[in-house]
Amino acid sequence: MIVCKSPAELERMHAACALVAVVLTHLERSVAPGVTTADLDEMAETQIRAAGAVPAFKGYHGYPATVCISVNDEVIHGIPSRKRVLAAGDIVSMDVGAVLDGFVGDSAITVPVGEIGPQAHALLRVTREALYQAITRMQPGARVSDIGHAVQQHVERHGFSVVREFVGHGIGAAMHEEPQVANYGPPGRGPRLAEGMVLAIEPMVNMGKAGVRVLEDGWTAVTRDGSLSAHFEHTVAVTSNGPWVMTAREDEGFAEVLATLGLEAPEELESRWRKTTPSK
Ligand code: MF3
Ligand code: CO
Repeated sequence: MIVCKSPAELERMHAACALVAVVLTHLERSVAPGVTTADLDEMAETQIRAAGAVPAFKGYHGYPATVCISVNDEVIHGIPSRKRVLAAGDIVSMDVGAVLDGFVGDSAITVPVGEIGPQAHALLRVTREALYQAITRMQPGARVSDIGHAVQQHVERHGFSVVREFVGHGIGAAMHEEPQVANYGPPGRGPRLAEGMVLAIEPMVNMGKAGVRVLEDGWTAVTRDGSLSAHFEHTVAVTSNGPWVMTAREDEGFAEVLATLGLEAPEELESRWRKTTPSK
């Protein structure tokens, strides 16, 4: 069953999501050569608890940390460690979830450490664009598989590959609700999107082949071929006015990216995606 949220519930979800966005912004600014992934995890946990919220991932099926931090060929679910020291040229994915007032927000970004090569840069850009393309499909009446179709088309057009083993998900009072949202496949399948549905859309994209495997720690997913991997995620509500990106960051700059994708009126789209009150 897909749980639709009332306007009042969407406002509460937005509070959890806005906190996640602030934490990710802080993490992004803190990434630098010499910083450990455990340092980043500590900052995030402190900030989440100071806001009266609780880390959503810690203890989830035994996950031991607040943030999933996945470097280079790590795809998702990397466990923060004192021994993992970031170096210039790395790409680092940070996935944050927080529970506030009974609702969960979930979002991820992948950012460069210092200077990175042009191919790595393209991987980050295309993965983020794929997420935005997917978000444009989140209109009432569209079908769930339209989202993954949009991701796959954009990613493969640029010569990268979509990870199949992990999916996006419905989200609300629980971190994982129905439906599952694959990042590939034909359009026009699955449930219809309706007002009040909230989905965490999270494309994972490899520079090389799509295959992944999970390390002996039971969590860290890495690319089989050792190629770089990127991950971007937003928690997005479906409203009568189109998608509402609840985890939008202050400095995210949707309009710039939307314009390069040839979408009309990017400024207007940007303000709609960021709306702070549900429509109607
Ligand atoms: N964004 C991820 C997800 O949707 C993070 C979960 S990590 C876990 O599943 F440790 F909590 F599983
Ligand atoms: Co998620």
